[in-house]
Amino acid sequence: MSANTIEINRQRHRFDGRESVWLFGYGSLIFKADFPYLERRPAAIEGWVRRFWQGSHDHRGTLESPGRVVTLIEQPGATCRGMAYRISPDVFDHLDVREKNGYLRFTTPLYFENGEQAEGLVYIATPDNTAFLGPAHERDIARQIAGAHGPSGPNDEYLLRLAEALRELADDDAHVFGIERYLQHPE
Ligand code: SIN
Repeated sequence: MSANTIEINRQRHRFDGRESVWLFGYGSLIFKADFPYLERRPAAIEGWVRRFWQGSHDHRGTLESPGRVVTLIEQPGATCRGMAYRISPDVFDHLDVREKNGYLRFTTPLYFENGEQAEGLVYIATPDNTAFLGPAHERDIARQIAGAHGPSGPNDEYLLRLAEALRELADDDAHVFGIERYLQHPE
């Protein structure tokens, strides 16, 4: 699949006069909400883990030196915590451009802290997109992140801001915090 998903995402969901839709963010959408929203609540989704397995040559790296950003990988029994935003459907015009580097919108159940549930959308970069990099040792991921820089800023800022946001959400994400440790104490 091409890394540019704007057109595919535009065809994927019909909002048919709905006033608002829940969006679940688990990466930069947690710490960088550059879009209008009606409500924002910590939430979780089930069966997925966050991994720095997606390449970024448009935001946090370049074609010559891609950065690494997060996507979700299926893992039965896992919980991924993040931030849910209730947004007007027209906000997807902006989000589809922002998430165009390989991310497709999927429908998912969302679980809020008070036990309430809702259906929402989440952007996932699946392994068949051309920008997908896949697994690597966390030390090597940290090295790649330390050397990458793109139009949205340095790749290490993405990692550090995400780690900070996950601490605020009390999400003990061993993968993210492991990479953070290698970044702060390179061997
Ligand atoms: C997300 O944050 O939900 C998607 C990945 C990203 O934009 O970092």
